[in-house]
Amino acid sequence: PLRAFLYADPAAHSLSPAMHRAAFAWAGLNGEYEAVRVSPADLPGALARLRRGGVVGANLSLPHKEAALAHLDGLSEAARAVGAVNTIIHQEGRLVGENTDAPGLLQALLDWGAGSTGHREADGPVVVLGAGGAARAAVYTGLILLERDVFIVNRTRERAEELAAFWQNEDADCQAQAADLAEIPWSKVRLVVNASSAGLSNPDETPLPGFDFSALAAGALVYDMVYQPRETRLMREARAAGVRAENGLSMLAQQARLAFLAWTGVDVPVSVFLGALGGEK
Ligand code: ATR
Repeated sequence: PLRAFLYADPAAHSLSPAMHRAAFAWAGLNGEYEAVRVSPADLPGALARLRRGGVVGANLSLPHKEAALAHLDGLSEAARAVGAVNTIIHQEGRLVGENTDAPGLLQALLDWGAGSTGHREADGPVVVLGAGGAARAAVYTGLILLERDVFIVNRTRERAEELAAFWQNEDADCQAQAADLAEIPWSKVRLVVNASSAGLSNPDETPLPGFDFSALAAGALVYDMVYQPRETRLMREARAAGVRAENGLSMLAQQARLAFLAWTGVDVPVSVFLGALGGEK
């Protein structure tokens, strides 16, 4: 069989096995996908085991996405730019680090009608909430993949400044900058991406307390990378103001689709992955 793994700690509650097993079944491939709990100390040994025959690759999740960079034989441009690997592709003994979170987010945003790539003026700037690892992927998606200006809003402004500084490029058409809420031209904003962990452990937390969502441009989308819970306070408050809001399930499904495609060459419809998540669409 073709074999793939998830390395994470904890690993038990991952939704990836259900998605990839459904994809193997849909593709008619004899494949196995197993979630393995790997501690940081065990990561190098676990990665070495991916070099065996029959192993197509692996996914990495917390706490390995950044630590793995140093142990791989090559990195894709996205993995290098985001500074994180969520997918490893095994190519004849070589392990190549890929990041399908950012293109997965891009695809999810496009599927929800968040404009198109390269239409900076028409589609307006992107607001990214948060400045951690997830935000780094979101800024890459907005700035490089969607080609929009990006405002980074974070509880700790200094971290937003650091993230913006990483992308500083005076020659580029699009810029990332740290911003307070009052500095953002909200009437031009059609896309807000929550990449903060607010609401993840405490459903009453929101990265935008007291925010007036009616300030956003008509037809705006609030995309929350959180998928557990399925509806966050941020989403609830956006919807209450008549603004479209979606959770991170579509990004989760898209990053899995892109990983499976890289491993097997089979582009399984995203509906198969969403179906395994208990979602619709
Ligand atoms: P990850 O790698 O998942 O992005 P992280 O690096 O811990 O995780 O980043 C978490 C992000 O969520 C940070 O931007 C954090 O803000 P701070 O930099 O100020 O810590 C943000 N965050 C977490 N809880 C929050 C809350 N209650 N309100 C606003 N932002 C919050």
